[in-house]
Amino acid sequence: MLSVKKMVGSPFAKSILVIVAALFATANIADSSEPLQLAQLSDGFNAEQTYMASCFACHSTGAAGAPKVGAGMLAEWTPRLEKGLDAVVANSINGVNTMPAKGLCFDCTDDDLRALVEYMIAASD
Ligand code: HEC
Repeated sequence: MLSVKKMVGSPFAKSILVIVAALFATANIADSSEPLQLAQLSDGFNAEQTYMASCFACHSTGAAGAPKVGAGMLAEWTPRLEKGLDAVVANSINGVNTMPAKGLCFDCTDDDLRALVEYMIAASD
């Protein structure tokens, strides 16, 4: 019978170890890519910062009839929300009338836009 010591020292056992290590590494890569696929917000996404950069220009002033964002502005949003949050989010993604698609945030994902809309509504309470 082969002893374990002889097995570990043999070139055959070493190559098995390399293969096992490689499989393990591959499994780890597959594992770590999973949260990336599941993560729906962009890396480092911050709703307030993105709002200030992309949406504030129109939505703070109500330019071109944009629903205003800010304390006490919920009445600007309630009639829009009657069609459901999903429809409001869809309009921010696709654009509606003079509201440009994605609110000009071209690297925003759909979920970033949903988070922005939720932020804008919460900030108008
Ligand atoms: C160039 C000006 C402008 C910018 C920039 C802009 N919006 Fe708008 N937005 C508008 C206007 C105007 C409307 C009203 C459109 C209408 O209902 O006729 C609007 C409407 C909306 C609505 C309501 C949609 C609905 O269903 O009633 C949402 C939500 C919205 N914007 C989100 C955003 C977000 C999020 C951003 C930034 C990523 C953004 N907007 C940037 C002008 C802008």
